[in-house]
Amino acid sequence: MTRQCSALLIVGLVLALPLDATAQARGARPPVSASSDPAAGKKVFDAQCAWCHGNDGDGGTGPNLHGRLRHATDLKSIVDIIAAGIPGTDMPSFRSPLTERSTRQTAAYVQSLSRAAARPVPGNAQRGADLYQSTGCGSCHTIDGRGGIVGPELTGIAARRGPAYLRESIVKPAATHPPGYLVVRAVPKSGPEVRGTRVNEDVFWISIRDAGGTVHTLDKSELTRVDREIDASLMPSYESRLSAPQLDDMVAYLSTLRGAR
Ligand code: HEC
Ligand code: HEC
Repeated sequence: MTRQCSALLIVGLVLALPLDATAQARGARPPVSASSDPAAGKKVFDAQCAWCHGNDGDGGTGPNLHGRLRHATDLKSIVDIIAAGIPGTDMPSFRSPLTERSTRQTAAYVQSLSRAAARPVPGNAQRGADLYQSTGCGSCHTIDGRGGIVGPELTGIAARRGPAYLRESIVKPAATHPPGYLVVRAVPKSGPEVRGTRVNEDVFWISIRDAGGTVHTLDKSELTRVDREIDASLMPSYESRLSAPQLDDMVAYLSTLRGAR
């Protein structure tokens, strides 16, 4: 995931370069209105942002940008987010790849998206909520303070992720790893092996949370090996367990979860 992201980021940067380069070569100092031109901003968005925020801002690894934005209230705050990123999240800083002018144009385009009405997601959110209960998602995930801790909290999930990503998380969990969920398998010199997500690791100890939620803290000198399963997930795939309409309902429900996290 991360490796793929940075490769795409580089491609995105290269694509966006000519835009800024020509503007600078001409030494053009655009009038203020041109510097917040949403049409020019769309080009930057398509190259730099769409691989996370989806085409037309429909959402993916990053949130859907239609309707009211959580962090960004006006043009200036959108400019600030693009320049600085959002620390502690997957939203990167674009201060070095983008000029101030492209940043403003992109921000103007994002603002035009946020003014457009949110596009409806297919499916029925109420049925999705019932399905969430009956399928047992809550044994691993917490929503509004209730549920398990093996998977990430989902209370504000739609503010972080778009519908395409949510769908993928359910049918191919291993394809969409949020950070901090590396699956490891530790084999002790004696006793049963422990498999789960790595909670903590240093030179001497490793802590692993198993699928039941129990944290095991193991002395590394007592282990014969630790395997890091980069492509594994503790979450089962629901591809064969949910019908297509049920999957739509589940994604519709998750897309309503924009609360505090
Ligand atoms: C690597 C993925 C990624 C890329 C590339 C990316 N974003 Fe983001 N962006 C995110 C994520 C994830 C969040 C949500 C952060 C959070 O709150 O958890 C976000 C949040 C935002 C927000 C705040 C949304 C709100 O509700 O307030 C804006 C605005 C934004 N991004 C604009 C952009 C623009 C413009 C670009 C391109 C210049 C861009 N992003 C590129 C992942 C990305
Ligand atoms: C056995 C525990 C378990 C169950 C049951 C489970 N999940 Fe997960 N889920 C996880 C783990 C662990 C992750 C994070 C690691 C990963 O994606 O592989 C995750 C990730 C996710 C994500 C992505 C979160 C993010 O921040 O990117 C979503 C969405 C999700 N699960 C939804 C569901 C839904 C909906 C169900 C029920 C149909 C469900 N999960 C059932 C353990 C579980």
